[in-house]
Amino acid sequence: MNIIQVKNEWKARAKLTNDDYEAWYRRSVEDPDGFWGEHGKRVDWMTPFTKVKNTSFAPGNIDIRWFEDGTLNVAANCIDRHLDKRGDQTAILWEGDDPSESKAITYRELHAEVCRMANALKARGVKKGDRVTIYMPMIPEAAYAMLASARIGAIHSVVFGGFSPDALAGRLDGAASDVLITADEGLRGGRTVPLKKNADRACDIAAKAGHAVKTVLVVRRTGADVPWTESRDVWWHEAREKASADCPPEEMGAEDPLFILYTSGSTGKPKGVLHTTGGYLVFAAMTHEYVFDYHDGDIYWCTADVGWVTGHSYIVYGPLANGATTLMFEGVPNYPDTSRFWQVIDKHKVNIFYTAPTAIRALMGAGDDKVTTTSRKSLKVLGTVGEPINPEAWNWYYRVVGEERSPIVDTWWQTETGGILITPLPGATDLKPGSATRPFFGVIPQLVDNDGTALEGVAEGNLCITDSWPGQMRTIYGDHDRFEQTYFSTYKGKYFTGDGAKCDEDGYWWITGRVDDVINVSGHRMGTAEVESALVSHPKVSEAAVVGYPHDIKGQGIYCYVTLMEGQEPSEALKKELVAHVREEIGPIASPDKIQFAPGLPKTRSGKIMRRILRKIAEDDFGALGDTSTLAYPAVVDDLVENRENRK
Ligand code: WT7
Repeated sequence: MNIIQVKNEWKARAKLTNDDYEAWYRRSVEDPDGFWGEHGKRVDWMTPFTKVKNTSFAPGNIDIRWFEDGTLNVAANCIDRHLDKRGDQTAILWEGDDPSESKAITYRELHAEVCRMANALKARGVKKGDRVTIYMPMIPEAAYAMLASARIGAIHSVVFGGFSPDALAGRLDGAASDVLITADEGLRGGRTVPLKKNADRACDIAAKAGHAVKTVLVVRRTGADVPWTESRDVWWHEAREKASADCPPEEMGAEDPLFILYTSGSTGKPKGVLHTTGGYLVFAAMTHEYVFDYHDGDIYWCTADVGWVTGHSYIVYGPLANGATTLMFEGVPNYPDTSRFWQVIDKHKVNIFYTAPTAIRALMGAGDDKVTTTSRKSLKVLGTVGEPINPEAWNWYYRVVGEERSPIVDTWWQTETGGILITPLPGATDLKPGSATRPFFGVIPQLVDNDGTALEGVAEGNLCITDSWPGQMRTIYGDHDRFEQTYFSTYKGKYFTGDGAKCDEDGYWWITGRVDDVINVSGHRMGTAEVESALVSHPKVSEAAVVGYPHDIKGQGIYCYVTLMEGQEPSEALKKELVAHVREEIGPIASPDKIQFAPGLPKTRSGKIMRRILRKIAEDDFGALGDTSTLAYPAVVDDLVENRENRK
């Protein structure tokens, strides 16, 4: 077994030793009130809490509250409380898509900008509890928009800028959001993204569905000409002029909502994951400090987009709550060339770098010289997140990028968990390439078999968490029943993650991937049901089944089986049309990689599609199809195998 032991240099710098980890962990699970009561004080409370944990995973009564009688404001914690000590320190270090563009925003400037945007929102009638949707490129104003919402107690819902107008409309409508903050255009890899145009279309679609957006606040990024609706649209640079740079933070209850973030599940439309104020902030800040072994003065860079939870917890809230300098990158890893990440690390002397396995694999393919021509001497900790990392990519990251000087933290978590749950701690945890290693404080993972029986010791099974932690989601926005149904009903009394995992002889955790109908494409989570529903909304499609298959760079690719309407002829042109249609319905991230026209899909006699078989065929592993005797028409399988799109 390949184990990389903690090096003395890592130990020397680390805040916690392995003994600390073990002692802290034990206390966190034996005495959560004592442990979190102490660590809950890491943030500033307007009214200190007297209660710590009050949580129930009991069937019919899923109820999660942390620090419930305390009050605080997240923006004040991320900005105001740092002003005395580090007002002139850079809070956000912004690196543009174009390497010649970058800027540093100090905590004092961040305070002024956030207050101005908060006042601009107030001027348009936004108040505590209102939903503000944010559809932005990776520019500082995206962070201002999140923090401005938090400052006035509005609930933000950030929608990734790569989503289509349809997808944005569904989220505007779902959250009944009266306000949308966007930009004229985004800029990525030298190309523009028509955000305002998309936003306009989304508003039209939402209006037809019965929800009219009242204000669209538009940040000028590229200066492009954009369509304008006088009664609804407001330029940020104009509103900013009129807005005061002083806006007192709203006093929020610990359990008041902070944000909604839509994410895909195995069924139905994306769910609005709701996170609240106190527990989320404590957990984001604490994990950021210990998982990355963050020290005062470190330059920290997470390459995620603020449209995903990683951007929320580990670009904005965790780092800023800790008074860090957080680097925000507008661009992509391969523009102007595949050396960009490493050049940015040198340019800004980045100490902590956090990215996704898909990016690592892509850059690994670009050749070592793209890396080795840069210095990277500033690096101290390297992190990964989003999908299982294969040992080959792990080793490349460790040896070529980190030159064996930096530990790798493979961090497992989810939109729902708010922050990192399983991870090494630098300087404390011996590493095994491909393993997320051990649970963070307060996290109790458990494997169960398909009947829900707990598996102890060395085992493989379905990954559950048996008790609450402060960063956990509290509900699905507007649908608490679905919250219970989705996460607590498969294995009663436990939170089910949807992931499979193994636990080894050292108690190390290995995440094996989703066991439900969710796929992970380049670290982007997608419900196969969503792609299917996009496909069947095309007039020529009668039925569709979508599965994932192993993809060298993306982790998983999207494989679609499509049955056409009577009289429709399969063709390459139609495949292209269907790809374009899915991009239009969901966004480019959902582009099908393979489409196979199928005269029929394998179904049981009761009409259920047998996805197990479809997955095997997509993997080109049809020698192992298993039992097909329960199929209504076993012959359809022969046709699928014969016309499969993937051949090894
Ligand atoms: C799913 C959650 C949370 C940040 C980004 C993704 C997979 C995430 C790892 C990891 C293996 C991982 C899981 C999880 N995943 N990190 N380190 N090792 N798998 O958030 O979109 O909510 O997706 O991503 O399958 O369930 P998300």
